[in-house]
Amino acid sequence: KKIGVIFGGLSVEHEVSVITGMQVMENIDKTKYEVIPIYVNKDGKWLTGNSLMDFKNYKDGNFKDAKEIILSPNHGDNKIYSHPKTVGLFGKKILGEIDIVFPAFHGMNGEDGTVQGIFELMDIPYVGCGVLGSSVGMDKILMKDVYKANELPVVDYTWFYRSKWLKDKDLIIKDIETKLSYPLFVKPANLGSSIGISKAKNREDLIDAIEVAIRYDRKIIIEQAVENLREINCAVLGFDDEVITSLCEEPIGWEEILSFEDKYVKTNEKGGKSSGERRIIPAGIEDNIREEIEELAKKAFITIDGRGISRIDFLLDANNNVYINEINTLPGSIAFYLWEGKGYPFKKLIDELIAIAIK
Ligand code: DAL
Ligand code: MG
Repeated sequence: KKIGVIFGGLSVEHEVSVITGMQVMENIDKTKYEVIPIYVNKDGKWLTGNSLMDFKNYKDGNFKDAKEIILSPNHGDNKIYSHPKTVGLFGKKILGEIDIVFPAFHGMNGEDGTVQGIFELMDIPYVGCGVLGSSVGMDKILMKDVYKANELPVVDYTWFYRSKWLKDKDLIIKDIETKLSYPLFVKPANLGSSIGISKAKNREDLIDAIEVAIRYDRKIIIEQAVENLREINCAVLGFDDEVITSLCEEPIGWEEILSFEDKYVKTNEKGGKSSGERRIIPAGIEDNIREEIEELAKKAFITIDGRGISRIDFLLDANNNVYINEINTLPGSIAFYLWEGKGYPFKKLIDELIAIAIK
């Protein structure tokens, strides 16, 4: 069977996705599957290359050995056919040779249901969450609304549109200060990898933080900051309500917000492929907290109609209150490091994900 691993893409998490894509391609069992890399560059062009693209040949949104253009906005002489939004309808002839797609995207245009929609239209099975789970999981506001409605614990939050901020800042600040108290987190609703996120300790910070966040998104979420928090993450694997949980991890030694740099750039400089050195696995938490987190992780996954794998990020306060911070429906490195200690080495995890995709 041919597995198309699609990565890169039109998201600020492009670089992270390239790492995930390379890791997935490296770990697919080549005795069972033929790997077809599909790299989406920063211009939205769909490229392919050798069966395993060489990471050394990657620089600034391009692979030296990515030659053959499968699909792109400028493909051939048929402009409609090649428009990214109509790929699903017109690109089947080319991508139709692929049996299963493994999306290794993060963030907008890949983890949010858009690419999943293309493969639905093309009737090609794909790994991971469907359109609904992906899109609800991507939007931090909708995600929290859905969790709250299902009585899953989330921190207090409020949100607004950028357009409204640009019209009436005072009104929005008043609304935030009525509903929440400092310190606060300000986040673009639809981004991952900590991009555009700031902590605000007072009104001045808040205004600055919002000005940063609106560069990235039309929707901004303001969350009550949890003081003295610990971050604990747990992944879920499965489909419908047949799910299992991974080990829990505690990311350590980072600043208050895990910045994009902390998460990826610094570790890569060290030559590491994952940030394994900077996590405690399994997390040093009491059994009852771990059980609570595992139970909530399953519910968080099932509630948004999760499929395949997701990593759920929790906040734990000094009184051991647990909050769901977010769900990542295509977690960095597919969270493989959380499964090794659970009897799922990366290869087996990929096999399982493919099995779920074609169920
Ligand atoms: N959005 C990044 C990749 C993560 O949460 O793992
Ligand atoms: Mg995320």
